[in-house]
Amino acid sequence: MQDFHGKVSVITGAGSGIGRGMAVAFAREGARIVACDVDAEGLDGTAKLVRDEAGGEVAAEIVDVRDGAALETLAASVEERFGGTDVLCNNAGVFRGGHVWQSPVEDWDWVLSVNLYGIIHGLRAFVPRMIASGREGHIVNTASMAGLIATGSSGIYTVSKFAAEALSEVLANDLRSSGAPIGVSVLCPSAVATQIASSQRNREVVPGPVEDADAIESILADFCARGIDPMDVGPMVVDGVRRGQFLIGTRDTVPEFLRVRNEALMRYELPPFQMFD
Ligand SMILES: NC(=O)c1ccc[n+]([C@@H]2O[C@H](COP(=O)([O-])OP(=O)(O)OC[C@H]3O[C@@H](n4cnc5c(N)ncnc54)[C@H](O)[C@@H]3O)[C@@H](O)[C@H]2O)c1
Repeated sequence: MQDFHGKVSVITGAGSGIGRGMAVAFAREGARIVACDVDAEGLDGTAKLVRDEAGGEVAAEIVDVRDGAALETLAASVEERFGGTDVLCNNAGVFRGGHVWQSPVEDWDWVLSVNLYGIIHGLRAFVPRMIASGREGHIVNTASMAGLIATGSSGIYTVSKFAAEALSEVLANDLRSSGAPIGVSVLCPSAVATQIASSQRNREVVPGPVEDADAIESILADFCARGIDPMDVGPMVVDGVRRGQFLIGTRDTVPEFLRVRNEALMRYELPPFQMFD
């Protein structure tokens, strides 16, 4: 997809960080934005930025990606109001740290319901309509560098992001073999200065403290603070979609991390611990 002018771009998790950056970037390209999030205040901020800074058209929708029926309703209403969806960005995500043997099952349910089922629900609601329209389209699923290399003390998040990456590969292959003119990219950012370390701000019920999880979240907050500006990620996504890139990274160190991991696996060894930047 080359020209985004007048195209409809639906973005989940658009009330903050990377999703907000994508909303502004696609609006600057002339796309009409449907920004979705559970955070009404964050959505207001994004809508203002899209209008004031990008001169764009934006609809802000409170949608919880854990709710498949809500995404179905959204897909139908986007079709009715805007004539369909051209670019779908399944971006909403949350983080919870901790060792896999300590994390309560509620943490697994919460992270997987947003990071994995959020994408699954998005695909089930939007892709059949995008295929039926016969129009050119593109899907961007946000995974992470943690979906390409396994890091420590964040097993739930890593599992959710490896799943998001695998899901994106299968989706791309299946769409290609079906002949639908819909491209797929998986966004695997390195550190970005967002609010991901305080994901629990949007969580209704927080189970009792998990010692290592809180320590990891404070390390993650420092790590993100050193990351790039989320407003710089949006144009990288636009550029990656335009080039038809499957994997979109935010630093040029991605191939080296993959090489180290894959060479170890090719020797049947455990990949060495690598901390991405
Ligand atoms: N920040 C990083 O360093 C980094 C690195 C790699 C990947 N990511 C991924 O980028 C994506 C965006 O995160 P971010 O870093 O911008 O964090 P963020 O916390 O700033 O933004 C995430 C947004 O998702 C929303 N959200 C959370 N649960 C939701 C739900 N159930 N339904 C709808 N919206 C929901 C939040 O309200 C928030 O506005 C996530 O998938 C995250 O895993 C972030």
